[in-house]
Amino acid sequence: MNLETAKAYLQKHNQSQLLQYYDELTEEEQLRLLNQIEYTNFNIVKNIEIAHSGGGNGKITPPANAVTVEEAARRRIQFETVGLNMLAEGKVGAVLLAGGQGSRLGYDGPKGTFNIGVTRELSIFEQLMRNVSDVTSQTGRAFPLFIMTSTVNDRATRSFFEEHSYFGYPRDEIHFFIQDVAPACDYDGKVFLDDKGRISLMPNGNGGWYSSLVNNGLGRILERDNIEWLNVFGVDNVLQRICDPAFIGATILKRCRCGAKVVKKTSPEEKVGVLCTQDGKPSIVEYFEMPEDLKNKTKKGELVYRYGVILNYLFNVHDLNLTLSGKLPYHLADKAIAHMENGVRVTPSKPCGYKFETLVVDMVRLMGSCLAYEVEREREFAPVKNATGTDSVDTARALLRKNGVKL
Ligand code: UTP
Repeated sequence: MNLETAKAYLQKHNQSQLLQYYDELTEEEQLRLLNQIEYTNFNIVKNIEIAHSGGGNGKITPPANAVTVEEAARRRIQFETVGLNMLAEGKVGAVLLAGGQGSRLGYDGPKGTFNIGVTRELSIFEQLMRNVSDVTSQTGRAFPLFIMTSTVNDRATRSFFEEHSYFGYPRDEIHFFIQDVAPACDYDGKVFLDDKGRISLMPNGNGGWYSSLVNNGLGRILERDNIEWLNVFGVDNVLQRICDPAFIGATILKRCRCGAKVVKKTSPEEKVGVLCTQDGKPSIVEYFEMPEDLKNKTKKGELVYRYGVILNYLFNVHDLNLTLSGKLPYHLADKAIAHMENGVRVTPSKPCGYKFETLVVDMVRLMGSCLAYEVEREREFAPVKNATGTDSVDTARALLRKNGVKL
Protein backbone atom coordinates (compact mmCIF):
# COMPACT_ATOMS: atom_id res chain seq x y z
CA MET A 1 0.00 0.00 0.00
CA ASN A 2 1.45 3.41 -0.91
CA LEU A 3 0.84 6.70 0.85
CA GLU A 4 -1.92 7.86 -1.47
CA THR A 5 -3.89 4.62 -1.15
CA ALA A 6 -3.39 4.65 2.63
CA LYS A 7 -4.75 8.21 2.85
CA ALA A 8 -7.87 7.28 0.90
CA TYR A 9 -8.34 4.06 2.88
CA LEU A 10 -8.01 5.83 6.23
CA GLN A 11 -10.32 8.61 5.15
CA LYS A 12 -12.94 6.03 4.28
CA HIS A 13 -12.63 4.60 7.79
CA ASN A 14 -12.44 8.02 9.46
CA GLN A 15 -8.93 7.26 10.79
CA SER A 16 -6.76 9.86 9.04
CA GLN A 17 -5.08 10.77 12.38
CA LEU A 18 -2.90 7.66 11.98
CA LEU A 19 -0.73 9.48 9.46
CA GLN A 20 -0.26 12.65 11.50
CA TYR A 21 3.44 11.94 12.26
CA TYR A 22 4.18 10.28 8.92
CA ASP A 23 6.60 12.98 7.75
CA GLU A 24 8.70 12.60 10.92
CA LEU A 25 9.32 8.89 10.32
CA THR A 26 12.31 7.25 8.65
CA GLU A 27 11.68 5.55 5.34
CA GLU A 28 11.69 2.14 7.04
CA GLU A 29 9.19 3.28 9.68
CA GLN A 30 6.95 4.75 7.00
CA LEU A 31 6.89 1.44 5.16
CA ARG A 32 6.10 -0.43 8.36
CA LEU A 33 3.22 1.91 9.16
CA LEU A 34 1.76 1.62 5.65
CA ASN A 35 2.01 -2.13 5.96
CA GLN A 36 0.22 -2.06 9.32
CA ILE A 37 -2.54 0.11 7.88
CA GLU A 38 -3.05 -2.36 5.07
CA TYR A 39 -3.45 -5.31 7.42
CA THR A 40 -5.50 -3.70 10.18
CA ASN A 41 -9.21 -4.45 10.24
CA PHE A 42 -10.74 -1.04 10.97
CA ASN A 43 -14.26 -2.45 10.69
CA ILE A 44 -13.77 -3.86 14.20
CA VAL A 45 -13.91 -0.31 15.55
CA LYS A 46 -17.48 0.03 14.26
CA ASN A 47 -18.46 -2.25 17.15
CA ILE A 48 -18.26 0.84 19.32
CA GLU A 49 -21.76 1.65 18.07
CA ILE A 50 -23.20 -1.74 18.94
CA ALA A 51 -23.68 -2.68 22.56
CA HIS A 52 -22.94 -6.37 22.91
CA SER A 53 -23.98 -8.27 25.95
CA GLY A 54 -22.44 -11.60 26.86
CA GLY A 55 -25.62 -13.60 27.06
CA GLY A 56 -28.13 -12.21 24.56
CA ASN A 57 -31.55 -10.97 25.56
CA GLY A 58 -33.64 -14.12 25.66
CA LYS A 59 -35.48 -15.85 28.48
CA ILE A 60 -33.10 -17.16 31.13
CA THR A 61 -33.60 -20.64 32.58
CA PRO A 62 -31.24 -22.95 34.54
CA PRO A 63 -28.61 -24.94 32.59
CA ALA A 64 -30.03 -27.88 30.64
CA ASN A 65 -27.18 -30.22 31.62
CA ALA A 66 -25.50 -30.18 35.00
CA VAL A 67 -23.43 -32.56 37.09
CA THR A 68 -23.43 -31.61 40.77
CA VAL A 69 -20.50 -32.29 43.10
CA GLU A 70 -22.58 -35.13 44.58
CA GLU A 71 -23.23 -36.77 41.20
CA ALA A 72 -19.57 -36.35 40.24
CA ALA A 73 -18.52 -38.14 43.44
CA ARG A 74 -21.07 -40.92 42.94
CA ARG A 75 -20.08 -41.54 39.31
CA ARG A 76 -16.39 -40.71 39.62
CA ILE A 77 -15.07 -44.06 38.45
CA GLN A 78 -17.44 -44.18 35.47
CA PHE A 79 -16.57 -40.61 34.37
CA GLU A 80 -12.85 -41.05 34.99
CA THR A 81 -12.64 -44.28 33.04
CA VAL A 82 -14.03 -42.63 29.91
CA GLY A 83 -11.77 -39.58 30.31
CA LEU A 84 -8.65 -41.63 31.01
CA ASN A 85 -9.28 -43.73 27.91
CA MET A 86 -9.58 -40.60 25.76
CA LEU A 87 -6.34 -39.26 27.23
CA ALA A 88 -4.56 -42.59 26.81
CA GLU A 89 -5.61 -42.60 23.16
CA GLY A 90 -4.19 -39.09 22.74
CA LYS A 91 -7.54 -37.55 21.81
CA VAL A 92 -7.39 -34.60 24.19
CA GLY A 93 -5.23 -31.49 24.17
CA ALA A 94 -5.12 -28.38 26.35
CA VAL A 95 -4.91 -24.67 25.65
CA LEU A 96 -3.46 -22.26 28.17
CA LEU A 97 -4.74 -18.72 27.68
CA ALA A 98 -1.81 -16.52 28.59
CA GLY A 99 -2.31 -13.60 26.22
CA GLY A 100 -3.91 -11.22 28.72
CA GLN A 101 -2.42 -8.03 30.06
CA GLY A 102 -2.87 -8.90 33.72
CA SER A 103 -3.16 -5.19 34.39
CA ARG A 104 -5.03 -5.62 37.69
CA LEU A 105 -2.14 -7.55 39.19
CA GLY A 106 0.17 -4.66 38.35
CA TYR A 107 3.09 -6.98 37.64
CA ASP A 108 5.51 -6.15 34.87
CA GLY A 109 5.85 -9.40 32.94
CA PRO A 110 3.73 -12.33 31.77
CA LYS A 111 1.36 -13.22 34.61
CA GLY A 112 2.49 -16.84 34.53
CA THR A 113 6.02 -15.79 35.52
CA PHE A 114 4.73 -14.21 38.75
CA ASN A 115 6.22 -15.84 41.85
CA ILE A 116 3.44 -17.21 44.02
CA GLY A 117 5.98 -18.86 46.33
CA VAL A 118 6.90 -17.42 49.71
CA THR A 119 10.02 -19.17 50.96
CA ARG A 120 10.96 -20.48 47.52
CA GLU A 121 10.40 -19.69 43.84
CA LEU A 122 7.13 -21.06 42.53
CA SER A 123 5.88 -19.33 39.41
CA ILE A 124 2.25 -19.56 38.35
CA PHE A 125 3.44 -21.41 35.23
CA GLU A 126 5.31 -23.97 37.36
CA GLN A 127 2.26 -24.53 39.55
CA LEU A 128 0.08 -25.05 36.45
CA MET A 129 2.60 -27.49 34.96
CA ARG A 130 2.53 -29.44 38.23
CA ASN A 131 -1.23 -29.65 37.90
CA VAL A 132 -0.72 -30.94 34.34
CA SER A 133 1.64 -33.63 35.58
CA ASP A 134 -0.98 -34.88 38.08
CA VAL A 135 -2.87 -36.17 35.05
CA THR A 136 0.01 -37.23 32.82
CA SER A 137 1.46 -39.34 35.63
CA GLN A 138 -1.90 -41.14 35.78
CA THR A 139 -2.07 -41.81 32.03
CA GLY A 140 1.67 -42.22 31.41
CA ARG A 141 1.31 -39.99 28.36
CA ALA A 142 1.80 -36.27 27.75
CA PHE A 143 -0.94 -34.40 25.90
CA PRO A 144 -0.35 -31.52 23.47
CA LEU A 145 -0.32 -28.23 25.34
CA PHE A 146 -0.97 -25.12 23.27
CA ILE A 147 0.09 -21.88 24.94
CA MET A 148 -1.44 -18.67 23.69
CA THR A 149 0.71 -15.60 24.23
CA SER A 150 0.43 -12.02 22.97
CA THR A 151 2.74 -9.90 20.83
CA VAL A 152 3.68 -8.17 24.10
CA ASN A 153 4.58 -11.21 26.20
CA ASP A 154 5.43 -13.93 23.66
CA ARG A 155 9.20 -13.67 23.85
CA ALA A 156 9.30 -13.46 27.64
CA THR A 157 6.94 -16.41 27.98
CA ARG A 158 8.91 -18.65 25.62
CA SER A 159 12.20 -17.73 27.32
CA PHE A 160 10.76 -18.48 30.74
CA PHE A 161 9.69 -21.96 29.68
CA GLU A 162 13.05 -22.56 28.04
CA GLU A 163 14.99 -21.37 31.10
CA HIS A 164 12.95 -23.78 33.22
CA SER A 165 13.43 -26.70 30.80
CA TYR A 166 9.70 -26.68 30.07
CA PHE A 167 9.14 -27.80 33.64
CA GLY A 168 10.05 -31.35 32.65
CA TYR A 169 7.30 -31.56 30.01
CA PRO A 170 8.23 -33.02 26.59
CA ARG A 171 9.28 -30.04 24.46
CA ASP A 172 7.60 -31.38 21.31
CA GLU A 173 4.21 -31.43 23.04
CA ILE A 174 4.32 -27.69 23.78
CA HIS A 175 3.14 -25.33 21.04
CA PHE A 176 3.27 -21.57 21.52
CA PHE A 177 1.19 -19.28 19.38
CA ILE A 178 0.52 -15.57 19.37
CA GLN A 179 -3.00 -14.30 19.76
CA ASP A 180 -4.49 -12.20 16.94
CA VAL A 181 -4.85 -8.50 17.58
CA ALA A 182 -7.47 -5.79 17.14
CA PRO A 183 -6.99 -2.01 17.03
CA ALA A 184 -7.60 0.01 20.22
CA CYS A 185 -9.31 3.39 20.07
CA ASP A 186 -10.47 6.39 22.10
CA TYR A 187 -14.10 6.84 23.16
CA ASP A 188 -14.89 8.47 19.81
CA GLY A 189 -13.65 5.50 17.83
CA LYS A 190 -10.36 7.06 16.73
CA VAL A 191 -7.69 4.37 16.64
CA PHE A 192 -4.68 5.17 18.83
CA LEU A 193 -1.08 5.38 17.72
CA ASP A 194 1.15 3.47 20.13
CA ASP A 195 4.12 5.34 18.75
CA LYS A 196 4.50 7.89 15.96
CA GLY A 197 4.76 5.11 13.40
CA ARG A 198 2.84 2.27 15.04
CA ILE A 199 -0.88 1.60 15.37
CA SER A 200 -2.06 0.46 18.79
CA LEU A 201 -2.98 -3.19 18.34
CA MET A 202 -4.04 -5.28 21.33
CA PRO A 203 -4.91 -8.96 21.95
CA ASN A 204 -8.46 -9.63 20.73
CA GLY A 205 -9.85 -11.17 23.94
CA ASN A 206 -9.95 -14.67 25.33
CA GLY A 207 -12.42 -15.80 22.64
CA GLY A 208 -9.73 -15.26 20.01
CA TRP A 209 -7.87 -18.41 20.97
CA TYR A 210 -9.26 -20.87 18.45
CA SER A 211 -9.05 -18.64 15.37
CA SER A 212 -5.57 -17.55 16.48
CA LEU A 213 -4.49 -21.18 16.89
CA VAL A 214 -5.77 -21.97 13.41
CA ASN A 215 -4.32 -18.77 11.88
CA ASN A 216 -0.95 -19.80 13.31
CA GLY A 217 -1.12 -23.09 11.42
CA LEU A 218 -1.60 -25.27 14.50
CA GLY A 219 -4.87 -26.73 13.26
CA ARG A 220 -2.68 -29.22 11.38
CA ILE A 221 -1.50 -30.66 14.72
CA LEU A 222 -5.10 -31.16 15.82
CA GLU A 223 -5.76 -32.97 12.55
CA ARG A 224 -2.51 -34.92 12.49
CA ASP A 225 -2.96 -36.17 16.06
CA ASN A 226 -6.73 -36.67 15.82
CA ILE A 227 -7.41 -34.38 18.74
CA GLU A 228 -11.15 -34.51 19.47
CA TRP A 229 -11.36 -32.35 22.59
CA LEU A 230 -9.56 -29.25 23.82
CA ASN A 231 -9.50 -28.19 27.46
CA VAL A 232 -9.14 -24.41 27.58
CA PHE A 233 -8.08 -22.71 30.77
CA GLY A 234 -6.90 -19.35 32.06
CA VAL A 235 -3.49 -18.59 33.47
CA ASP A 236 -4.66 -17.13 36.75
CA ASN A 237 -6.26 -20.04 38.58
CA VAL A 238 -3.39 -21.80 40.35
CA LEU A 239 -5.63 -24.65 41.54
CA GLN A 240 -6.82 -25.34 38.01
CA ARG A 241 -7.24 -29.05 37.20
CA ILE A 242 -6.14 -29.49 33.60
CA CYS A 243 -7.53 -32.26 31.38
CA ASP A 244 -9.40 -33.60 34.38
CA PRO A 245 -10.41 -37.13 33.28
CA ALA A 246 -13.74 -37.05 35.16
CA PHE A 247 -14.72 -33.74 33.54
CA ILE A 248 -13.86 -35.12 30.09
CA GLY A 249 -15.77 -38.34 30.74
CA ALA A 250 -18.84 -36.55 32.10
CA THR A 251 -19.03 -34.17 29.11
CA ILE A 252 -18.83 -37.10 26.70
CA LEU A 253 -21.30 -39.30 28.58
CA LYS A 254 -23.78 -36.43 28.84
CA ARG A 255 -23.44 -35.97 25.06
CA CYS A 256 -22.55 -32.29 25.28
CA ARG A 257 -20.47 -30.41 22.72
CA CYS A 258 -18.72 -28.50 25.43
CA GLY A 259 -18.38 -28.48 29.18
CA ALA A 260 -17.71 -25.74 31.70
CA LYS A 261 -16.29 -26.22 35.14
CA VAL A 262 -18.41 -24.25 37.56
CA VAL A 263 -18.40 -23.47 41.28
CA LYS A 264 -21.31 -22.59 43.52
CA LYS A 265 -21.60 -18.81 43.90
CA THR A 266 -20.77 -17.65 47.42
CA SER A 267 -23.65 -15.14 47.37
CA PRO A 268 -26.15 -13.72 44.87
CA GLU A 269 -23.89 -10.67 44.57
CA GLU A 270 -20.68 -12.49 43.67
CA LYS A 271 -19.24 -10.97 40.49
CA VAL A 272 -18.99 -14.02 38.28
CA GLY A 273 -20.65 -15.07 35.04
CA VAL A 274 -23.32 -17.72 35.60
CA LEU A 275 -23.96 -20.66 33.30
CA CYS A 276 -27.64 -20.73 32.29
CA THR A 277 -29.79 -21.48 29.29
CA GLN A 278 -31.05 -18.60 27.18
CA ASP A 279 -33.42 -19.12 24.26
CA GLY A 280 -32.66 -22.82 24.46
CA LYS A 281 -28.89 -22.31 24.14
CA PRO A 282 -26.21 -22.49 26.79
CA SER A 283 -25.35 -19.00 27.89
CA ILE A 284 -23.10 -17.35 30.42
CA VAL A 285 -24.89 -14.40 31.90
CA GLU A 286 -22.59 -11.79 33.43
CA TYR A 287 -23.37 -10.69 36.98
CA PHE A 288 -24.33 -7.20 35.82
CA GLU A 289 -26.75 -8.60 33.24
CA MET A 290 -28.62 -10.95 35.56
CA PRO A 291 -32.08 -9.60 36.54
CA GLU A 292 -32.35 -9.01 40.32
CA ASP A 293 -35.24 -11.46 40.82
CA LEU A 294 -33.34 -14.29 39.12
CA LYS A 295 -30.11 -13.44 40.90
CA ASN A 296 -31.81 -13.93 44.28
CA LYS A 297 -34.15 -16.78 43.34
CA THR A 298 -33.81 -19.85 45.58
CA LYS A 299 -35.19 -23.37 45.61
CA LYS A 300 -34.81 -25.72 48.60
CA GLY A 301 -32.50 -23.14 50.17
CA GLU A 302 -30.15 -22.97 47.19
CA LEU A 303 -29.68 -20.28 44.55
CA VAL A 304 -31.31 -21.44 41.31
CA TYR A 305 -28.68 -19.59 39.25
CA ARG A 306 -25.66 -20.65 41.23
CA TYR A 307 -23.12 -22.01 38.78
CA GLY A 308 -20.29 -19.50 38.40
CA VAL A 309 -17.82 -20.19 35.58
CA ILE A 310 -14.09 -20.39 36.32
CA LEU A 311 -12.59 -20.22 32.82
CA ASN A 312 -12.05 -23.92 32.39
CA TYR A 313 -13.89 -25.30 29.37
CA LEU A 314 -13.83 -28.44 27.30
CA PHE A 315 -14.66 -27.99 23.62
CA ASN A 316 -15.33 -30.56 20.95
CA VAL A 317 -12.86 -29.72 18.17
CA HIS A 318 -15.22 -30.62 15.34
CA ASP A 319 -17.87 -28.25 16.67
CA LEU A 320 -15.35 -25.50 17.34
CA ASN A 321 -15.16 -24.83 13.65
CA LEU A 322 -18.60 -23.25 14.04
CA THR A 323 -16.94 -20.36 15.83
CA LEU A 324 -14.45 -19.74 13.06
CA SER A 325 -16.54 -17.98 10.50
CA GLY A 326 -16.43 -14.57 12.16
CA LYS A 327 -19.56 -15.26 14.18
CA LEU A 328 -18.12 -14.17 17.50
CA PRO A 329 -19.20 -10.63 18.43
CA TYR A 330 -16.70 -8.08 19.72
CA HIS A 331 -17.18 -6.62 23.19
CA LEU A 332 -15.79 -3.30 24.37
CA ALA A 333 -13.30 -3.36 27.24
CA ASP A 334 -12.71 0.01 28.88
CA LYS A 335 -8.95 0.08 29.48
CA ALA A 336 -5.97 2.33 30.24
CA ILE A 337 -4.16 2.32 26.89
CA ALA A 338 -0.75 3.93 26.23
CA HIS A 339 -0.93 6.20 23.19
CA MET A 340 0.44 9.27 21.42
CA GLU A 341 -0.96 12.63 22.44
CA ASN A 342 0.35 15.93 21.06
CA GLY A 343 3.58 14.31 19.93
CA VAL A 344 4.27 12.58 23.27
CA ARG A 345 3.56 8.96 24.32
CA VAL A 346 1.35 8.95 27.43
CA THR A 347 0.62 5.99 29.70
CA PRO A 348 -2.64 6.81 31.52
CA SER A 349 -3.38 5.15 34.86
CA LYS A 350 -7.14 5.32 34.25
CA PRO A 351 -9.17 3.89 31.37
CA CYS A 352 -9.08 6.16 28.33
CA GLY A 353 -10.49 4.09 25.50
CA TYR A 354 -11.61 0.74 24.21
CA LYS A 355 -9.99 -2.55 23.44
CA PHE A 356 -12.10 -4.98 21.38
CA GLU A 357 -12.49 -8.47 22.73
CA THR A 358 -14.13 -11.67 21.66
CA LEU A 359 -15.09 -13.87 24.60
CA VAL A 360 -15.03 -17.59 25.34
CA VAL A 361 -18.56 -17.24 26.71
CA ASP A 362 -19.83 -16.51 23.20
CA MET A 363 -18.16 -19.66 21.94
CA VAL A 364 -20.15 -21.64 24.50
CA ARG A 365 -23.41 -20.25 23.12
CA LEU A 366 -22.45 -21.23 19.58
CA MET A 367 -21.72 -24.79 20.67
CA GLY A 368 -25.42 -25.39 21.32
CA SER A 369 -24.98 -27.64 24.38
CA CYS A 370 -22.81 -27.27 27.44
CA LEU A 371 -22.44 -29.35 30.58
CA ALA A 372 -22.19 -27.44 33.86
CA TYR A 373 -19.71 -29.59 35.77
CA GLU A 374 -19.63 -28.51 39.39
CA VAL A 375 -16.37 -28.67 41.32
CA GLU A 376 -15.44 -27.74 44.87
CA ARG A 377 -14.34 -24.14 44.99
CA GLU A 378 -11.79 -24.68 47.76
CA ARG A 379 -10.07 -27.39 45.78
CA GLU A 380 -10.16 -25.99 42.25
CA PHE A 381 -10.54 -22.25 42.26
CA ALA A 382 -7.78 -19.89 43.39
CA PRO A 383 -7.60 -17.01 40.92
CA VAL A 384 -4.78 -14.49 41.02
CA LYS A 385 -6.44 -11.37 39.63
CA ASN A 386 -5.48 -8.55 42.00
CA ALA A 387 -2.41 -7.67 44.01
CA THR A 388 -4.45 -7.47 47.23
CA GLY A 389 -8.02 -8.10 48.46
CA THR A 390 -10.37 -10.56 46.78
CA ASP A 391 -8.98 -13.01 44.21
CA SER A 392 -5.51 -11.85 45.01
CA VAL A 393 -2.04 -13.23 45.59
CA ASP A 394 -2.87 -13.62 49.31
CA THR A 395 -6.14 -15.48 48.83
CA ALA A 396 -4.56 -17.77 46.22
CA ARG A 397 -1.63 -18.54 48.55
CA ALA A 398 -4.00 -19.40 51.38
CA LEU A 399 -5.91 -21.80 49.12
CA LEU A 400 -2.73 -23.40 47.80
CA ARG A 401 -1.61 -24.04 51.38
CA LYS A 402 -5.00 -25.54 52.20
CA ASN A 403 -4.44 -27.96 49.32
CA GLY A 404 -1.07 -29.01 50.66
CA VAL A 405 1.17 -26.98 48.32
CA LYS A 406 4.35 -25.86 50.08
CA LEU A 407 5.06 -22.22 49.42
P1 UTP B 1 -8.69 -11.53 32.29
O1 UTP B 1 -10.10 -11.30 31.99
O2 UTP B 1 -8.32 -11.66 33.74
O3 UTP B 1 -7.84 -10.37 31.59
O4 UTP B 1 -8.19 -12.81 31.50
P2 UTP B 1 -6.32 -9.97 31.73
O5 UTP B 1 -6.02 -9.09 30.57
O6 UTP B 1 -5.43 -11.19 31.88
O7 UTP B 1 -6.21 -9.21 33.11
P3 UTP B 1 -6.63 -7.72 33.50
O8 UTP B 1 -8.13 -7.64 33.29
O9 UTP B 1 -5.86 -6.79 32.62
O10 UTP B 1 -6.23 -7.62 34.95
C1 UTP B 1 -8.64 -14.11 31.80
C2 UTP B 1 -7.77 -15.09 31.06
O11 UTP B 1 -7.84 -14.86 29.65
C3 UTP B 1 -6.54 -14.62 29.13
C4 UTP B 1 -5.71 -14.17 30.30
O12 UTP B 1 -4.32 -14.40 30.08
C5 UTP B 1 -6.28 -14.99 31.41
O13 UTP B 1 -5.78 -16.30 31.38
N1 UTP B 1 -6.63 -13.61 28.06
C6 UTP B 1 -7.34 -12.47 28.27
C7 UTP B 1 -6.00 -13.84 26.89
O14 UTP B 1 -5.33 -14.89 26.70
N2 UTP B 1 -6.10 -12.90 25.91
C8 UTP B 1 -6.80 -11.75 26.06
O15 UTP B 1 -6.86 -10.94 25.12
C9 UTP B 1 -7.45 -11.52 27.28
